[in-house]
Amino acid sequence: MTASTLEFDGVSVAFGGVRALDDVSFSVGEREIVGLIGPNGAGKTTAFNCVSRFVRPQRGRLLAGGVDLTSVAPHEIAALGIARTFQGLELFKSMTVAETLLAGQHSRRRTMGALSSALRLPSVRRAEAVEIAHAREVADFFSIEQYWDRMATELPYGVQKRVDIARALVSAPRLLLLDEPAAGLNVEALAELATVIRTIRAEFNTAVLLVEHHVAMVMELCDRVCVLNFGRVIADGRPEEVQRDPAVIEAYLGTKVTDDA
Ligand SMILES: Nc1ncnc2c1ncn2[C@@H]1O[C@H](COP(=O)(O)OP(=O)(O)OP(=O)(O)O)[C@@H](O)[C@H]1O
Ligand SMILES: [Mg+2]
Repeated sequence: MTASTLEFDGVSVAFGGVRALDDVSFSVGEREIVGLIGPNGAGKTTAFNCVSRFVRPQRGRLLAGGVDLTSVAPHEIAALGIARTFQGLELFKSMTVAETLLAGQHSRRRTMGALSSALRLPSVRRAEAVEIAHAREVADFFSIEQYWDRMATELPYGVQKRVDIARALVSAPRLLLLDEPAAGLNVEALAELATVIRTIRAEFNTAVLLVEHHVAMVMELCDRVCVLNFGRVIADGRPEEVQRDPAVIEAYLGTKVTDDA
C-alpha cells in the first residue's frame, strides 16, 4: 500500500467554543483531484490552514506521503511537495511574471549553499539557467509566456490567476491546494480554469485538493468530493454519489429530504 499524498486522520480544531473541524478524516491519493466543499463556516479554510500549518490541530494526525505534518515547520511544507494558491493574489506586488515564477522555484534550490549562490559560481549560473528554462516551459503551458516581462498585477484578473497557479506548479509539487480559484472569475475564465485544472494532473502528475464554492465545477472536475458541514465530514465519495446524498442536499438547502421526496 502506498502512503496517501495527504491524509486527515481524526483531525479536530476548536476556536473557543466553535468546533471548526470535528474528527475529520479524508485523504487525497496520488494524482487524485479531490473537492472539499460545504456551506459557509463548514471548516474548509481551516482544513487548508492545517495543511499550511497556519492552524494546529488539537487532535488527530495529518500526514503527507506518510510524514506527520505537525512535526514539520511551516516553511518546510513546500519542500515536502505541497504548494498552494492564495485567494488574494497579494504575492505579485511589483514583480514581473518571470520573477513570480522564479520565486516559486525557491524551494527547489534549498540544497544549494548560500556561499556558492553569493559567489555566483558557474554551477550556480548553470542551475539558474535550468530554472529559467523550466519556468518558461511552465509559463508556456499556461499560455502566459507572452507576459513574461510584464508586471503581474497589471494583467487581467483571469491571467493573474493563471500566473498564481503556474507559480505554485514550478516547484513540481505532489499536491496542489487550490483556495477558491474560481472566485471573481467570469463564465469564460471559469471554463478556462476548469480546463487548466484538468490538464495539470496529466502534465504535472500533481494531485489537487480544491476548495470551491462553484459546486457545479467541483462536481464536473473532481474524482472525489468530500463534504463538510459544521466541521464534520457528512459525505465522501464520487461526485454522482455525493450529489444524491440526502445529508448533502439538506446541508445545502436547509431542508430535510425524505425517501419519497
Ligand atoms: N481564527 C479563527 N478564530 C475563531 N474562529 C474561527 C477562526 N477561523 C475560523 N473560525 C470559525 O471556524 C468555523 C469554520 O470556519 P472556516 O473559515 O474554516 O469555514 P469555511 O468552510 O472556510 O467557510 P467559508 O465558505 O465561509 O469560507 C467558523 O465557525 C468560523 O467562524
Ligand atoms: Mg473559507
